[in-house]
Amino acid sequence: MRNVLITGGAGFIGSNFVRYWLANHPGDRVVNLDALTYAGNLESLKDIESNPNYRFIHGNVCDVDCIEKVFEDEKIDTVVNFAAESHVDRSILGPEVFIKTNIHGTFTLLEAARKFWDKDKTGCRFLHVSTDEVYGSLGPEDPAFTEQTPFAPNSPYSASKAASDHLARAYYHTYDLPVLTTNCSNNYGPYQFPEKLIPLVIINALEGKPLPIYGDGMNIRDWLHVEDHCRGIDVVLDKGCLGETYNIGGCNEWANIDIVKLVCEHLDELRPGNAPKSNLITYIKDRLGHDRRYAIDAGKMKRELDWEPLYTFEKGIEETILWYLDNKEWWARVRDGAYRDYYNRQYR
Ligand code: NAD
Ligand code: DAU
Repeated sequence: MRNVLITGGAGFIGSNFVRYWLANHPGDRVVNLDALTYAGNLESLKDIESNPNYRFIHGNVCDVDCIEKVFEDEKIDTVVNFAAESHVDRSILGPEVFIKTNIHGTFTLLEAARKFWDKDKTGCRFLHVSTDEVYGSLGPEDPAFTEQTPFAPNSPYSASKAASDHLARAYYHTYDLPVLTTNCSNNYGPYQFPEKLIPLVIINALEGKPLPIYGDGMNIRDWLHVEDHCRGIDVVLDKGCLGETYNIGGCNEWANIDIVKLVCEHLDELRPGNAPKSNLITYIKDRLGHDRRYAIDAGKMKRELDWEPLYTFEKGIEETILWYLDNKEWWARVRDGAYRDYYNRQYR
């Protein structure tokens, strides 16, 4: 039985991971620590809140006293660190909180693990969840990012994640802390906050609002279903080599404009209107420093840990669209005042 601390478990990937972990490791105790920022939503975990193996703690990863108390009281032996400011556009509008949460928060957690795991680290694991954005931007013909690709982050968000990855690495090398790091590509699936491209486009199309495309729409991302990401993290925790990093990706590159058109086609079938939804596509000013292309080489995950994505994009995107159609109450409530302020500034 493990005592697993999941930070940021009220966010998109974190909430999917909490649900995944309780279903797949029913003997473990899960402590979800989350500051409940605009992106954290306990309604995403309504179905599991009465599970006796689950506990929620409202806390901030930068709060040393709180984190140390959690480690001590809950006898934490496994950490999966999702807590972060995660949205690139917000990092451009206001980078400071990204530095605090993503760098200082990771440092605080690593320090607590060092303090409490000092004497007996056997069986302990600290998995730091990171992003492919730390590797920077690819040209059209460049090979995909491998674990050896040098870091070249281009946004305040990716720079803060790169810094946290370096800290995680340093704690393994310096203090022998049992650290693992994963760098994953773009996730999609249920419970994603509607500031991110796919849910934003689904919801705007349903509401007849413009579908904002940055620049020429030809920026490329690799897309992975969140459930495949959760399974990848599980496999790395179980069989990964301490101190190593693992790239997790879908081998599924799409230009933004093509994703948006695909979503429109699905919605035209599911919710036919007078005009095709693609009429709502609106090209707007590009994101500052917008990375052109990301692509992940997930060969190490396949070769060493026998992991590969199970979802096809066809199935995953259809299920995701249906989820947003069936869960209007969830996303309508998520879009509170704070989100509306951000939305108005970003798309004014
Ligand atoms: P999210 O924004 O949906 O969720 C982040 C969660 O962290 C929220 O619940 C928020 O309340 C919480 N949080 C923020 N600041 C906190 C703090 N100071 N203390 C405690 N909790 C805090 O993010 P996400 O998309 O679920 O991403 C989760 C992690 O995965 C992040 O570390 C992100 O960098 C990484 N990642 C995301 C993707 C993606 O496509 N979404 C891909 C690769 C890696
Ligand atoms: O690659 C992994 C990263 O994926 C994670 O580390 C981040 O936490 C996550 O937010 C995501 O970052 P992106 O910037 O790639 O995701 P986003 O959904 O914001 O944008 C996807 C692409 O779509 C990107 O090229 C910008 C573009 N875009 C986005 C929005 C919100 C638009 O063209 N219009 C939009 O309105």
